[in-house]
Amino acid sequence: ATAAALAAAPAGLVVGSRSGTARAAESPFTTPLKVPAPLRPVRLAGHDFYRLTTREADVTLLPGTTTRIRSFNGAMSPLIVARRGRPVVIEQVNRLSVPFSMHLHGGHTPQRSDGHPMNQVKPGESRLFRYPNEQRAATLWLHDHSHEDHAENIYRGLAATYLLTDDFEEQLPLPKGRYDVTLQLRDAKFQGDGRLDWDLHGFDERHTILVNGRPRPYFEVAARKYRLRLVNTANERPFLLQLGDGEEFTHIATDGGLLPEPVPTRVLQLWPGERQEIVVDFSRHGVGRKLVLSNTYPYEGESGEVMRFDVVREASDPSRVPGKLRPVPDLGTSAVEREFTMSFDAKTGQHLINGRPFDMHRVDIRPRLGVAETWKIVNGDGEYGIPHSMHPHLDAFKVLDRNGKPPAPGEAGLKDTVTVPAGEYARIQVRFTEHTGLYMYHCHMLSHVQMGMMGQMEITR
Ligand code: C2O
Ligand code: CU
Repeated sequence: ATAAALAAAPAGLVVGSRSGTARAAESPFTTPLKVPAPLRPVRLAGHDFYRLTTREADVTLLPGTTTRIRSFNGAMSPLIVARRGRPVVIEQVNRLSVPFSMHLHGGHTPQRSDGHPMNQVKPGESRLFRYPNEQRAATLWLHDHSHEDHAENIYRGLAATYLLTDDFEEQLPLPKGRYDVTLQLRDAKFQGDGRLDWDLHGFDERHTILVNGRPRPYFEVAARKYRLRLVNTANERPFLLQLGDGEEFTHIATDGGLLPEPVPTRVLQLWPGERQEIVVDFSRHGVGRKLVLSNTYPYEGESGEVMRFDVVREASDPSRVPGKLRPVPDLGTSAVEREFTMSFDAKTGQHLINGRPFDMHRVDIRPRLGVAETWKIVNGDGEYGIPHSMHPHLDAFKVLDRNGKPPAPGEAGLKDTVTVPAGEYARIQVRFTEHTGLYMYHCHMLSHVQMGMMGQMEITR
């Protein structure tokens, strides 16, 4: 975006704007990374059962302070590990004072469990969410979809990682067990006493980066390969990640699971809602090296450093990244074409899709089950410099092209969220394969969704 466009844009709307000098309260790399242990399910005949109570909790995020968060079971960044073919049932008990609606981002979920805003769980109530897990292995995540409060609920802590594994992926020689680590990345703004500051449009003042709920932590690793699953749970902060002075690592998976083949790279984009998985070989760096993972997306402020990897010991390493990972399914020929223009309306402050804000009582599109469609996603905000994304619920899609050019190899897998820079377009191919009913599609910049950037689709036979 040009400087003039940035200057003309309303405060708090342009990702990448330069304002705010608030400094993070903590010094970097003084807190160890917290690697969450998977929650323990109650194993019942045919499925795994969990109870997730959404409630406020007082936890320490910044050293020496207490932060009141909105949590699942009292903790930040919990982890659920699920297996293809074995359903998970979650009883969500809402002890918050606001409604909540749980959504499994990337899940092929029956409508009544998809977190549609009409299925909100009111304070004091509970509801069962059922996830069939009949889809390929991928890193998914659980978050609120209540609509009125979801941006704040997610900001205050209601995001969990949901790893879905399967036999295909398990037989590959990729790093496993303690060498397969989930990293939830996000930003926040704290008061000096540790309180979280909330403002729907205040994203450019959120200078503290949290990884699994810890401010810019350090992580002691062995000199061997690690699989790192990166999940961006921020309301709207993009990450353009670089390791050390631009060390090479291997991109292996994205939203919908493994890429067709590994992609060696030195920089990785991670937009809100997205997941990217990489393998880093710390044996190349050797014991004693300290490598900072940094965000090189152009921001001013303290947000550049994300975390540090300290290589502290030798270790044997039977793992390997195979030359071929997982073929992407052929979705057939598209029988339907649609166009979605995402744009900001300066008069009303709303964010619109094809000129209209979200209306729960209006169905915008009616895709047919099993029929492939091509969607052209147009970012109509060239003059404001606002990036937008498209995230349809249910099945993952393929990126066909960006501004008419084939996608980069790192985008050649199955995606469920695609970000389109201001004034550009992307075309995707999507096919809904399992469930019928009412579902959402929307931008994953959470203030944009809250200001209307969501549509409703009814999938029919
Ligand atoms: Cu993470 Cu409706 O989305
Ligand atoms: Cu948007």
